[in-house]
Amino acid sequence: MKVLVIHGPNLNLLGKREPGIYGTKSLDDINKDILTLASELGISVKTVQLNSEGDIIDVIQKGNYDTLIINPAAYTHTSVAIRDAIAGADKPAIEVHLSNIHKREEFRKKSFIAEVAVGQISGFGPDSYLLALRAAKSILSK
Ligand code: DQA
Repeated sequence: MKVLVIHGPNLNLLGKREPGIYGTKSLDDINKDILTLASELGISVKTVQLNSEGDIIDVIQKGNYDTLIINPAAYTHTSVAIRDAIAGADKPAIEVHLSNIHKREEFRKKSFIAEVAVGQISGFGPDSYLLALRAAKSILSK
């Protein structure tokens, strides 16, 4: 059971970036929590942070995973290319956001990714990733 977690653009700055919205945990802290839960659940997880749209698409195309957890960050609202890469991979994808994108600016309410994801987890801070990992476990166990 291999899960790939992709953190999109600007998420390398977590902890310093708009902490009122995204919290004070760093990406390293979040990744540690993901890996701890993954070992409890018996899932093999790889995490990667990528700022460029093309790099995200390359990793999805390589397909070295069974289930994808992705926080596409700002590309959520703009990227038909990432949407198409996920659709083409034909593997389950779970969309994650730290903030509740439906409670913020109007432009954040549109997700190009939601249409090709099994589901979206949005608004639980770093716990959004942990909830996604539990969802991945449930998908992979079926
Ligand atoms: C985000 C929400 C996006 O709208 C924003 O561009 C991000 C982070 C989140 O995790 O809440 O960079 O994906």
